[in-house]
Amino acid sequence: MKITKICCIGAGYVGGPTMAVIAQKCPHIQVTVVDLNEQRITDWNDPDIDNIPIYEPGLSEIVAEARGRNLFFSTEVEKAIDEAQVIFISVNTPTKTYGKGKGMAADLKYIELCARQIAKVAKQNKIVVEKSTLPVRTAEAIKSILDNTGNGVQFQILSNPEFLAEGTAVTDLLNPDRILIGGDTTSEGEEAIKALVDVYANWVDKEKILTTNVWSSELSKLTANAFLAQRISSINAMSELCEKTGADVNEVARAIGMDSRIGPKFLKASVGFGGSCFQKDILNLVYIAKSYGLNEVADYWEQVIIMNDHQKKRFSSKIVQTLYNTVADKKITFLGWAFKKDTNDTRESAAIYVADDLINEQAKIAVYDPKVSGNKIQSDLNYLETRSIEENKDRVVTFDNAYEACKDAHAIAVLTEWDEFATYDWQRIYDSMHKPAFLFDGRNILDAEKLESIGFIYNGIGS
Ligand code: UDX
Ligand code: ADP
Repeated sequence: MKITKICCIGAGYVGGPTMAVIAQKCPHIQVTVVDLNEQRITDWNDPDIDNIPIYEPGLSEIVAEARGRNLFFSTEVEKAIDEAQVIFISVNTPTKTYGKGKGMAADLKYIELCARQIAKVAKQNKIVVEKSTLPVRTAEAIKSILDNTGNGVQFQILSNPEFLAEGTAVTDLLNPDRILIGGDTTSEGEEAIKALVDVYANWVDKEKILTTNVWSSELSKLTANAFLAQRISSINAMSELCEKTGADVNEVARAIGMDSRIGPKFLKASVGFGGSCFQKDILNLVYIAKSYGLNEVADYWEQVIIMNDHQKKRFSSKIVQTLYNTVADKKITFLGWAFKKDTNDTRESAAIYVADDLINEQAKIAVYDPKVSGNKIQSDLNYLETRSIEENKDRVVTFDNAYEACKDAHAIAVLTEWDEFATYDWQRIYDSMHKPAFLFDGRNILDAEKLESIGFIYNGIGS
């Protein structure tokens, strides 16, 4: 089968960039991205390309090239499903906030809704591709819904997990380490796998396209994220020990990273990992392990999350302790709110939790982030439901200029590793602050020696 029409349900951080790159690399394929959220679709179609809803380096150029040619953004979900041969499901699967598995299991209500919509609309055979990270054996649930509520047409379910990282989505999509496609081992399953392999083969080396059974593919995604997050929790655990012993975690990371068996990547000690994947996927792994009665396996992976929560708490406690055990009504400026640089995504960002702790201590928080709006910052805090909306508004002020944000602050905390922070005129910032001027570098991106020579009391992670 030759694919000429693709539909993607979900125009978010995964669906948007992935489909933009498929459309750019496969001009012969019509790619339609649909979403229930009308505002999101309007934003993707904004004539001013800088207004598209997701910030990723290089993304707007690709959208500008393909949009209107073979890339379309629409709210007509049913029409797009009906026309496509392949339907990607890229809807969000947050951790459940209610009922059985609350706080651990993935909430599959959006996935189920998609499956029911596809079943209702499809009049021809379709390939349905799971793109969102899903718990192992979700494909089975999707298949059951499709087969039992559909119009008698055949569905092939493939798992094609996304390995892109936000902030580098475009380069990750253009030059992936591998593409993973899981499918049934029947001849129809193999035909569906081949059809999807041929799409990626337009720009990815065939040797990098792995095919497996559906369950291996689903579990590989959770495993990859669990291993990556574990590296961060491991180095963060060492950062605390370094602070006690006089070792420097940056030096330790460099030393161990040169061991080719360990490797240098993903060893940056930080205020803690954030993002929509790591915590959610590990909690999911823990939940699956528990549901099979594998308590030791569950406890083993849960520790990665416990360590991460500890690292965030440790950072806020350090700020309070260093500021003479009281931050009440002191202005503390956050540089960065996004969960990492080069993205406007704030899901599970460490900044949210650190701010929450400091507000509990009655601090006044000022925030500057180059890509995150004040409304988003307020809604992130309100989502925690720790206090009233009015109180959050009263305690947190946002700025669109870092120098303004830092004026009269008692302390600055770097929460995101945006490159621009290292280029600031730090003398000017120092001069405008309360003295002593404290700086807590939650990402170890600033030059400690230089800042100390200006007069800052500098605190990094793990040294
Ligand atoms: C991750 C995976 O990398 C990606 O393959 C998967 O598809 C989705 O989840 P993402 O969450 O976008 O991607 O970003 P990632 O670069 O992995 O960073 C996650 C968090 O870890 C960020 O908060 C980042 O700042 C933090 N981090 C990363 C560290 O604290 N130290 C490091 O060394 C690396
Ligand atoms: P991710 O990081 O996984 O891409 P996002 O939240 O950025 O997550 O994007 C998921 C998108 O999926 C959202 O824009 C949401 O509106 C959309 N969505 C969820 N359920 C459906 C559905 N049944 N039909 C269409 N779009 C949906």
